Amino acid sequence: MIGRLNHIAIAVPDLEAATATYRDVLGAAVSQPLDQPEHGVTVVFVELPNAKIELLHPLGVNSPIAKFLERSPSGGIHHVCYEVDDILAARDRLKSRGARVLGDGEPKNGAHGKPVLFLHPKDFLGTLVELEQA
Ligand code: CO
Repeated sequence: MIGRLNHIAIAVPDLEAATATYRDVLGAAVSQPLDQPEHGVTVVFVELPNAKIELLHPLGVNSPIAKFLERSPSGGIHHVCYEVDDILAARDRLKSRGARVLGDGEPKNGAHGKPVLFLHPKDFLGTLVELEQA
């Protein structure tokens, strides 16, 4: 059911330092920081040949990644995102197999303007999983 890896998101306490690490140490192409107030994050996209890395930094008081950074102050992998062809079919299949979809279970527009859902980390090996309709 799942297709390509779309991105791995890494929560970072210092977006400038994290961007410099990917740009200057690892030699990757990085974007300018992009505020996404509706998601409570500022994002820098790292473009790799086969996927993206998203560096996430909290934006605003109710950022969904603020708690994560409280627990992991030096940052860490926050979620992985897999592409699916049909997000509603994917959701229904997962629910029928007992997986928990976060929120109200309805797809939201994600960071790339495409419908996304998040799956409970306890059902997926301790990893928060995002599905994005490709
Ligand atoms: Co994501």
